[in-house]
Amino acid sequence: MSSPRFDIITIFPGMFAGPLDYSIVRRARDAGLIELHVHDLRDWTHDRHRTVDDYPFGGGAGMVMKAPPWFEALEAVRAMDSRPPHVVLLSPQGRTLEQALVRELAARERLVLCCGHYEGVDERVRERLADAELSIGDYVLSGGETAAMVVVDAVTRLVPGVLGSAASAADDSFGGGLLEYPQYTRPAVYRGWSVPEILLSGHHQRIAGWRRQQQLLRTALRRPDLLARASLSVAERGWLEAALRERALETEGEPDDAH
Ligand code: ADE
Repeated sequence: MSSPRFDIITIFPGMFAGPLDYSIVRRARDAGLIELHVHDLRDWTHDRHRTVDDYPFGGGAGMVMKAPPWFEALEAVRAMDSRPPHVVLLSPQGRTLEQALVRELAARERLVLCCGHYEGVDERVRERLADAELSIGDYVLSGGETAAMVVVDAVTRLVPGVLGSAASAADDSFGGGLLEYPQYTRPAVYRGWSVPEILLSGHHQRIAGWRRQQQLLRTALRRPDLLARASLSVAERGWLEAALRERALETEGEPDDAH
């Protein structure tokens, strides 16, 4: 597969300079592992004020993004590459982003990310132009731009060659559906707080076992929804139930400190 291509259509192209110019996304771009193009929606307006919004039919507060600039932008952007794009509208009404959806998006050769604004986008854009609508969570952002950055970041990490093998393995462990185990580095004692002894023991197998247990416990306490979907061995289920019972006895009457 040739390098996946992202096209972002926005009324604030300047917002993308910065966030996508650092770290892993930057390296992926420099290495030619992804292609990223940002387009100003206003380039497809035809009036002096480069208008992209208008009053809602039927009245009501706020403005609505007009359909014509979106359709013209998509036609032009589509033609910039021979690969047919998967067109995604960012909005709070979309399917919620999680790692499984990130994986689906990473399997596409070309994504066009359309950043919605104002009270919304003319429904015909949603119905006739977008292949999918995507939300990054149940909260309202000022626009789809920050959400598009999140999508580019999360998808880029899954493009082959972008992460080193160590980091890919770590990513797989979230792919396995559990939260990460606690990590420590030097010094071994800081302000009187010691690193768990087992990590200094040199017993790689026992360390691996402890880490897995920590993942199970942490996920059970913080994200029982993830645990329900994770695949655990019978032994692990047994250990976890016992650990949770023990913990419940220890912390009886104490406020919940899972976080
Ligand atoms: N635009 C506004 N809020 C959003 C959200 N939560 N996800 C994606 N796009 C948005």
